[in-house]
Amino acid sequence: MRRYSRITGTGSYLPPRRLTNADLVAELGQRGIETSDEWIVERTGIRARHFAAPDVASSDLGLEAARSALQAAGLQPTDIDLIIVATSTPDMVFPSTACILQNKLGANGCPAFDVQAVCSGFVYALTVADAMIQSGAASRALVVGSEVFSRILDFNDRTTCVLFGDGAGAVVLEASETPGVLSSDLHADGKHVGILCVPGNVSGGQVLGDPVLKMDGQAVFKLAVGVLEKAAHAVLAKAGLAEADIDWLIPHQANIRIMQSTAKKLKLPMDKVVVTVDQHGNTSAASIPLALDHGVRTGQVKKGQTLLLEGVGGGFTWGAVLLKL
Ligand code: UT7
Repeated sequence: MRRYSRITGTGSYLPPRRLTNADLVAELGQRGIETSDEWIVERTGIRARHFAAPDVASSDLGLEAARSALQAAGLQPTDIDLIIVATSTPDMVFPSTACILQNKLGANGCPAFDVQAVCSGFVYALTVADAMIQSGAASRALVVGSEVFSRILDFNDRTTCVLFGDGAGAVVLEASETPGVLSSDLHADGKHVGILCVPGNVSGGQVLGDPVLKMDGQAVFKLAVGVLEKAAHAVLAKAGLAEADIDWLIPHQANIRIMQSTAKKLKLPMDKVVVTVDQHGNTSAASIPLALDHGVRTGQVKKGQTLLLEGVGGGFTWGAVLLKL
């Protein structure tokens, strides 16, 4: 009998400090940076975001999301036999945020590692966990997306600092006789490294280069719209399903205009798209599991429904996962 993987619990966590556009506009104004609620809402759909306190790391946000997902799955930390954390804002250069999270959770002993695919990180991590479960290498995986992007923002650059927020989302993925994950499709094209990156690195005890986020927004936008449609059609074809079979599109939450464009190309009305970008901003690898958990906990997204998860981000990376909840 074929072995599948299935999501049995979801969880998420947002740090308590919430900044509306008005709050951020006022803070940036004190630095002499001009922006407005109108510009941010019109160009991105973002109305608010959460920022973590200075002493709170990705592993702390991920821990809260993981506990909530475990509770939803009715499992204890010690039941978990694999931890994958998708993050581009790790607690340390090394060890991985997954190891730090594992220790805080009390799930010591199982394999734990990070996946670094920026905003596509969660679909990458989910695909790896699914493959490890299908192969028998794991049976109960915790897959987390967690970010503190506020740490890598340049608050003198209005073209990027208004876009991102902090948060975490998690799922428990368990071995199952029925699917579960139906198909996935991952890609990267390293020739676009420069359009979305944090170019700094640590060398000789110093930070070399600029350790803040740089983005050519228009280049990312154009690439994103094209590749997301392709990835969506690829997972549908692999699973033998059609656009009309999708109950919910749960895309990476970067910009409402990208989400609207993807939905239109898939002939999905916006009421089949889970939207959290307005309240969370872009939380990179955390955005899809945050949106998924939001959908589940608000009762919109129900067990047995077919979900299309898709992400796109720095690398350039992109991908999609089609699954039955
Ligand atoms: O998470 C990974 C994936 N990331 C994404 O998907 C992001 C993709 N890109 C985008 O979402 C959009 O390109 C942005 C939201 C980043 C920018 O929107 P845009 O419609 O492409 O704006 P733009 O870059 O063309 O800028 C238009 C104008 C410029 O002024 P001029 O040159 O027309 O006078 C900018 O200087 O808007 C100006 N501008 C701002 N004005 C007020 C840029 N940022 C701001 C700002 N407030 N915060």
